[in-house]
Parts: sequence; C-alpha cells; structure tokens
Amino acid sequence: MVNPGSSTAERLYSWQTVKIDFDDGIAWVTLNRPDKKNALSPTLNREMLQVLDALEVDDRCKVLVLTGAGESFSSGMDLKEYFKEVDKATPVEVMRVRRDSMAWQWRRLQTFPKPTIAMVNGWCFGGAFTPLCSCDLAICADEATFGLSEINWGIIPAGNVAKAFADKVSPADAMYYAMTGETFDGKRASAMRLVNESVPRAQLRERTAALARKLMEKNPHVLWAVKDATRRLRSMSWDEAEEYLYAKAQATYSTDPEQGRKKGMDQFLEEKSYRPGLKNYRRE
Ligand code: COA
Repeated sequence: MVNPGSSTAERLYSWQTVKIDFDDGIAWVTLNRPDKKNALSPTLNREMLQVLDALEVDDRCKVLVLTGAGESFSSGMDLKEYFKEVDKATPVEVMRVRRDSMAWQWRRLQTFPKPTIAMVNGWCFGGAFTPLCSCDLAICADEATFGLSEINWGIIPAGNVAKAFADKVSPADAMYYAMTGETFDGKRASAMRLVNESVPRAQLRERTAALARKLMEKNPHVLWAVKDATRRLRSMSWDEAEEYLYAKAQATYSTDPEQGRKKGMDQFLEEKSYRPGLKNYRRE
C-alpha cells in the first residue's frame, strides 16, 4: 500500500489485496495475495476497479505495470471465493460479482488511457489470462509457468479467458493449449506471441522499467489514441478503419495539449533539427 501523505489519498489508496508503488512515473500495481498465489477473488476484483479509477487521474502514474506478489503473477480466479462461495449466491449477486471481474480484467484495462504492461513474474493460470492479454504489452520471466488449466478440472475457460487467448495467439496454439491444459514457460509464451518478450527473471523488473521509460518519452495524448485505435481496428473492415482513423486522428490533433503534430513538422521542415524516422520530436 502506498502512503502518499494526504488523508484523502491515504483513504483512496488503502486496499487489502492490491499494492501500488510509484517510482519515477511508473505505477507498479501488484496483485497482493501471495498466500493464495494472487488468486482473483471478488474483493480483489472490486479493488482493482477502484485502483484503475484512481490511477487514471493520478499524475504519478504515467505507465501502469501489473504484476503479482511473490512467486505468482496470478493463479486465476479464486476457486473458493469466486466459484464455490458464489455458487450459493442469488442470480443478481452472481451478476454483480461477474460484472466487477470483467469490468477491470478487460473493459477498463483495455481502455485505460495510459500505457499498461503486464509483468508476468511466475504462475499465470486461467482467469489471469484476461488481464494479461488486456494490457497493451507484456513481458514475462523465462521461468514463468502459464496454463489454461480449466480443462483439467472439467470447466471451460470462461470469464473471457478463451477469447483473450485466442485473440493473441495462433488458432493452432489456442486450440492446443485450451484442449490439453498443458503448461508452458515464458520462452514458449514469447514464441507464440502471447507476450512481447521473455527474459530471465533476474532481469524482468529492469527490462520492464526500461520499456516503461521508453513509453514515457512519447506524447502521452497521442500514445493513448494510438493504443486505443490499434486495439479497436482489429475488428474493423478496411473501409471502417479508414473512416475511423481519419476521424480519430483529427480528434486527437485538435485536443493534443502539446500540439505534437505541428511541433514535429516545424522541427523537421523549418528548423531541420530532427528526423522523425529516427527519434522523438523535441518536447518541452
Ligand atoms: N483459487 C483459490 N485458491 C488458490 C488458487 C486459486 N486459483 N490457487 C492457489 N490457491 C491457494 C491454495 O488453495 C493454497 O491455499 P491454502 O494455503 O489455504 O491451502 C495456496 O493458494 C497455495 O497454493 P498451493 O497449491 O499450495 O501452491 P503450490 O505452489 O503447490 O502450487 C499452483 C501453485 C498455482 C500450481 C496451484 O496452487 C494451482 O494449481 N492453483 C490453481 C491454478 C488454476 O488452475 N487456476 C485456474 C482458475 S480459473
């Protein structure tokens, strides 16, 4: 838990199952139930919604990194608190619990206005695939263990797990791992493009921080539009994408607080002080 100093902030940042550390623009958001391998319980799901809500408007967070405490990223949905106990709930209660879960694991994460990186430090099972795939980028430890374990105990990868996985990897890999429940390591996750990169665990945090720093050099307003558009246009036709991207571009330029498009062009065409193909324009 962070202790930012003001009483309002302390109240806002007081969570039982999630820890946040701010460090030089990075908000390290740690799923923090190490004794349960960071299983996603209804409390954690509700708290993660509040966390995303708070970080969206917190200037200390330029890039959000999602990771897990201890030796686990997350062991997936909490089999006791999310499944067994909720089995006894009323249909409306079930709906509310599922709604919290889906709200942060994909809806809010996928539309989060700042860059997000999943840093998969260890175990990553079942329900954990939804937030993993909903982060913009992902880096894992070579030593991490992934698995769509649902088939091993006779359920299907719901909670949008099967969808998240199938959207990322090839149809052959999606089918193979969903049907066999076999585990795979970080290097395999990278080879099948479930994550961007896999590195030895000893280098995981530094590599993730370096990527976050690279993202922080970009114009944040335009970066938000780029990540949003890149995700949305996957399901559009060429016609729709053309129309959408021109409209999105116009809306982005006209609302960009630092007017990056004009600055970039001035620095290239008038001042001849930089090459857009090689580095960022000069931001003040
Ligand atoms: N839901 C609820 N509790 C879980 C959990 C989950 N998904 N994953 C782990 N836990 C709990 C265990 O019940 C245990 O609790 P206890 O100490 O009260 O008995 C504790 O976390 C430690 O887990 P344990 O199994 O003893 O650790 P391990 O190092 O031997 O194995 C895993 C780690 C992740 C391989 C193993 O816990 C596991 O297979 N978890 C389930 C993974 C899964 O299939 N998730 C998909 C859910 S959709």
